[in-house]
Amino acid sequence: MNGGDGETSYAGNSLLQKEMIIKSKPIVEESMRELYLGTFPNCLRIADLGCSSGPNTLLFISEIMDLIHFTCQELNHKGPTFQVYLNDLPGNDFNTIFRSLPSFYEKLKKKGADFGPCFIAGMPGNFYGRLFPDHYLHFVHSNYCLHWRSQVPEGVVSKSGIPLNKGNIYIAKTSPIIVYASYLQLFERDFTLFLRLRSQEIIPGGYMVLSMIGSDKKFLSGNHSYTIFELLGITLSDMVQEGLLQEEELDSFNLPYYAPTAEEMRQVIETEGSFDIQRLETVKTDWDVNIDKGNKSLSRGEYVSKGIKVVVQPILASHFGEEIMDNLFERFAVKMDEYLEVEKGEYTNIVVSLKKRNTSE
Ligand SMILES: C[S@@+](CC[C@H](N)C(=O)[O-])C[C@H]1O[C@@H](n2cnc3c(N)ncnc32)[C@H](O)[C@@H]1O
Repeated sequence: MNGGDGETSYAGNSLLQKEMIIKSKPIVEESMRELYLGTFPNCLRIADLGCSSGPNTLLFISEIMDLIHFTCQELNHKGPTFQVYLNDLPGNDFNTIFRSLPSFYEKLKKKGADFGPCFIAGMPGNFYGRLFPDHYLHFVHSNYCLHWRSQVPEGVVSKSGIPLNKGNIYIAKTSPIIVYASYLQLFERDFTLFLRLRSQEIIPGGYMVLSMIGSDKKFLSGNHSYTIFELLGITLSDMVQEGLLQEEELDSFNLPYYAPTAEEMRQVIETEGSFDIQRLETVKTDWDVNIDKGNKSLSRGEYVSKGIKVVVQPILASHFGEEIMDNLFERFAVKMDEYLEVEKGEYTNIVVSLKKRNTSE
């Protein structure tokens, strides 16, 4: 993610991700209420995994606090202390979040003396590894992160080192089946590991709500609509045709990303076996959702391109070089405008609420 809070930062361009926090709010609230009423902890320990740096991070926390406060008022019950851990990769711009905490705490104080207290801490680390002590957390949340894989799948390159996903940066209509199978296999391995690790960290009866980008069809069916990253791959391919990029540079790059179907998710959760599915829903959002709330001078294509740029620029720049980034995303904006003229661009998002089983680990 691009750090800071400026024009090209993730913080300033995260309305798509905010939309999912709003759309998943009823499921988060239902799960949190059930957790709280089932456990009544004095100190409610919550983790937000892949928190990034921006307004969405604190939005989620204040929504949770409002809900618990309201629930306790209804029950005439003293509210809990909140201990919130913000996790992301160590390179995340935690400083921008930490600088915004004093004003966040001030706002909480204004809500009343019986509100909170709340203690917020950073927990840098890879969520495909252990982050917390055994049976420590009551509630885990993650918004718009789990489509990121732990690595690029090994099967996108043949045993003799030949790239198999030529001209693409993700699964595309022209990708061989082995590429799709490698991505799916890596998703199954990563997500199984993620569930196993969290099952060690969450108390029995604790909850986890995960929202992420998914797909509504298996890629194997071959008739899926273009994905954002397929179109970005085509834009890079155009640059190869024009001699602005080496073909080998494009052929040797694949994104560590996989958007599963709801069924693929269900199978991994059921096979892993530590959690019971409380809800598993798909939610559609337009690629240019909330464009009316963003910079009004941008075309639809420019708006989508900017939102993608703040997320993938660091990873693309480390492979293709920083100098082509502006050109790439200007071209991508034009391609996106052309595409959205004739097609509907939308994400299929998945929201799942999981309850940790009462088996001892
Ligand atoms: C699109 S942002 C979403 C941020 C935030 N949750 C929101 O809703 O706005 C995805 C975040 O996931 C983080 N992330 C990706 N893989 C991760 C991993 N393995 N461990 C921890 N964080 C990860 C990225 O660094 C990034 O900040």
